[in-house]
Amino acid sequence: MAQAYRLDLLLALLLPVVGALMPGTVVRLNEAVLSYVSEIGTAPLQQALRVTVPYFLDWNEEVHQPTRIQTLNVHVPHFHLKFIADFGVRMLVAANFTFKVFRVPEPLKLVLPVVLLADAQVAQGSIRTPVVSISACFALFNTSASVLPQLCLSISNLVQGLNVHLGTLIGLNPVGPESQIRYSMTNAPNITKDYISLDISAILFLLGKPIVLPVDVTHFVLPPNVGADGAMATVGLSQDLFDSALLLLQKAGALNLDITGQLKSEDNLLNTSVLGQLIPEVARRFPEPMPVTLKVRLGATPVATLRTNNATLQLQPFVEVQAVTSNSAFQSLFSFDVVVNLDLQLSVSKVKLQGTTSTNQMRPLMDTVFKRPLLDHLNALLGMGITLPSMVNLYYINPEVFVYEGYVVISSGLLYQR
Ligand SMILES: *[C@@H]1O[C@H](CO)[C@@H](O)[C@H](O)[C@H]1NC(C)=O
Ligand SMILES: *[C@@H]1O[C@H](CO)[C@@H](O)[C@H](O)[C@H]1NC(C)=O
Ligand SMILES: *[C@@H]1O[C@H](CO)[C@@H](O)[C@H](O)[C@H]1NC(C)=O
Ligand SMILES: *[C@@H]1O[C@H](CO)[C@@H](O)[C@H](O)[C@H]1NC(C)=O
Ligand SMILES: *[C@@H]1O[C@H](CO)[C@@H](O)[C@H](O)[C@H]1NC(C)=O
Repeated sequence: MAQAYRLDLLLALLLPVVGALMPGTVVRLNEAVLSYVSEIGTAPLQQALRVTVPYFLDWNEEVHQPTRIQTLNVHVPHFHLKFIADFGVRMLVAANFTFKVFRVPEPLKLVLPVVLLADAQVAQGSIRTPVVSISACFALFNTSASVLPQLCLSISNLVQGLNVHLGTLIGLNPVGPESQIRYSMTNAPNITKDYISLDISAILFLLGKPIVLPVDVTHFVLPPNVGADGAMATVGLSQDLFDSALLLLQKAGALNLDITGQLKSEDNLLNTSVLGQLIPEVARRFPEPMPVTLKVRLGATPVATLRTNNATLQLQPFVEVQAVTSNSAFQSLFSFDVVVNLDLQLSVSKVKLQGTTSTNQMRPLMDTVFKRPLLDHLNALLGMGITLPSMVNLYYINPEVFVYEGYVVISSGLLYQR
């Protein structure tokens, strides 16, 4: 509770600073997720329903005698969940309770079937996470009135536990050493009979400061029928999110690199003798082979372009080529601006979106000396990945990534694992 309050305060302090609309993502949880929840939720539900039954008055020898009852077992053969449009989720629970009634002279074993119906509203909480609350709970058959509130209370408590879990959606996740990403719900969820859809904005931070795009962020809408059919989750990532992540990388200087060649290395072309073959002036200045360093600096933010089935990344680095002379001093040889177009392959691992780049055409000089080290550096960087909207102990499994015009969709199963 205290923690939730602190977060509340933190967000209250943070949000006015941020002000502007932040890059959008949409998380759509489809019907398949309800089957999964009922599958993994049955055991905890059975546990929760093991309520202590009050004494009951047994009619014995013409007086009511308080008689102790012990719950021996609760079995839930049926636990069904479905979406209720504009509201939340309806649960239907069929449970068989086995009681031991300590009546005199002989204890009695009793099996009592109970069918419970509970409606859970899904709303937006004060700390911008989804919040589930039980708004109606009743039994379909005769369940002792004194037992029913206890069962409903147990279900309510179970849902409270779920809310604590849903609260971890807004955790701050590292992107790089000094950068983080935080997700939060921007409005109440949209619920239809087929899915629940959450608008979730992403804020990227560098050294504690939010990354704000120079242009206005657009409200991201995830079209229906995108991604793979039947997936538990459909996650849409807007162009703005990619732009923010790239702006963050550029601001952090993570895209700048120095590439130094080693002498006597077969797979590294960065020495003055190789360059000398392409540029005679270099050969003249350095009759003895010297290692070469490329200082790659990104002044402009890289641009990710998302077209149907085709994601590309364009970088426009400024490259300074220097020879490393015998006393470890640098001698500038020449410099140039270059436009590098890369194919971007996206994948998801556990809770992270990762990228790898490849290219098949650069200018000849670039191709010879520049391509491999640049790709290695970028791939190491993009391979670190960026955390997707998620919660503690919840992972994406068997994800598929789809690239559409201006956005990316991940269709995925979900796995809850402690
Ligand atoms: C639960 O109780 C119902 C009704 O008594 C019965 O038909 C069903 O077989 C029971 N199921 C289990 C798994 O005990
Ligand atoms: C429900 O209660 C009524 C009256 O108390 C009883 O006649 C009936 O058999 C009960 N039904 C079940 C399913 O327990
Ligand atoms: C929810 O509905 C509103 C209003 O129709 C719409 O603007 C928004 O994009 C929807 N969000 C999601 C996640 O479906
Ligand atoms: C320069 O690089 C080439 C290609 O990697 C290599 O074969 C050659 O040995 C290097 N020269 C020196 C002096 O290290
Ligand atoms: C991908 O898009 C780029 C432009 O953004 C285009 O140059 C390239 O040919 C496209 N590749 C494919 C395979 O369609």
